[in-house]
Amino acid sequence: MAAGKKAVLGVTGGIAAYKAAELARLLVKKDISVMVVMTENAKEFITPLTFQTLTGHPAFSDLFSQEHYDLNHISLAAYGDVIVVAPATANIIGKMAAGIADDLLSTVLLAARAPVLVCPAMNDNMYTHPAVQNNIRILQNRGVHIVAPDRGELACKTAGIGRLAELEAIVEAIETAWTDKDLAGEKILVTAGPTREPFDPVRFITNYSSGKMGYALATMARRRGAEVILVSGPTVLPIPYGVDFIPVESAVEMRGAVMSRLETVTVVIKAAAVADYRPAVRAGNKIKKKRGPLNIDLEKNPDIIAEIGAKKGKRVVVGFAMESENLLANAKAKLFAKNMDLIVANDLHQDGAGFQSDTNIIKILDLQGGVETVPLMDKLDIAARILDRVKALIYAGSR
Ligand code: PMT
Repeated sequence: MAAGKKAVLGVTGGIAAYKAAELARLLVKKDISVMVVMTENAKEFITPLTFQTLTGHPAFSDLFSQEHYDLNHISLAAYGDVIVVAPATANIIGKMAAGIADDLLSTVLLAARAPVLVCPAMNDNMYTHPAVQNNIRILQNRGVHIVAPDRGELACKTAGIGRLAELEAIVEAIETAWTDKDLAGEKILVTAGPTREPFDPVRFITNYSSGKMGYALATMARRRGAEVILVSGPTVLPIPYGVDFIPVESAVEMRGAVMSRLETVTVVIKAAAVADYRPAVRAGNKIKKKRGPLNIDLEKNPDIIAEIGAKKGKRVVVGFAMESENLLANAKAKLFAKNMDLIVANDLHQDGAGFQSDTNIIKILDLQGGVETVPLMDKLDIAARILDRVKALIYAGSR
């Protein structure tokens, strides 16, 4: 993952160069060491001192400088686990496509062997020009990752395609570029978040799931090369990049979304907190306050993972168990009763575990009686540990 990694950030001369400062800050915040290489034109838009202040390293632009003799074009090219050019002008894209090396950045790019990401930003007429599009195709065919620009208002007061991609999208593309694609070829369906079970047009029964655990699994599975379908109950989280996102509300809707896609997937991970019961009747109008108590009859929701277990075939099926007592015994009973391969148990009463938090503490139970304890860590790291176990099952061919 990101901490301890190194990045070279190439900045070229466009108005979006100021956004590169924020990108550098976001990377440093993730404990990534950043070396900035600027073109002379970039210095017309933003000063090297800005980057030096943010990264703690000088920003380089001079191919022949003696000042930092140990950081030349070859050592800078070898420095990064990734090289990101943001913003990338039509000029640098053209030079890269043609193999021209006439300044420090283009020379670093030619000498680089790390993954290269190019984030174009320019006027829409320039971006859509056949010359630029052709150069982008050349780079893509060489394995360069292109982080496509967004549509919107451009600095030249026109609207069109050419705005630098959102910085979060660039950061995610960086994380993806340096992650091993050890789940390539898998199609993973993840469920996340709560379900909402309405009893009138304005009220519903739900639970505290934020969706963070499921979204972390979807994000990490996609970074590792899997095709990901994320079936999500209502959350306030941004949709993870690059996943097929299917929003649902109720358990019945979630069941429909999952079961209609089951045939197409190789792995199912059910991190959603599905309501076991729903109101038997949904009133057409808002229920008015009356004297005395209000009784709402509940009926059982479909048990989605049990249905998946019954039609499991060669799929790997992973369930979750959120328990407030007898964590291991309850989780183990669900593992076997619902024909899962693994169950991830989290304890409602442990600080930093379960609902809402950015972290989790889990135990992974398998069919052989094994219990792996994973200590407190960020939900993305927890997701990686769960996916390691999924991968081991895939490789063992025991799905
Ligand atoms: O979303 P967060 O705030 O990040 O919190 C994460 C989490 C606590 C929700 C997650 O880690 C978790 O534990 N999810 C499952 C919670 C839960 O509903 O456990 P359960 O024991 O009730 O269900 C067991 C399994 O059956 C789960 O995989 C669940 O998705 C599935 N299930 C449950 C009921 C039902 N009707 N259909 C199901 O498929």
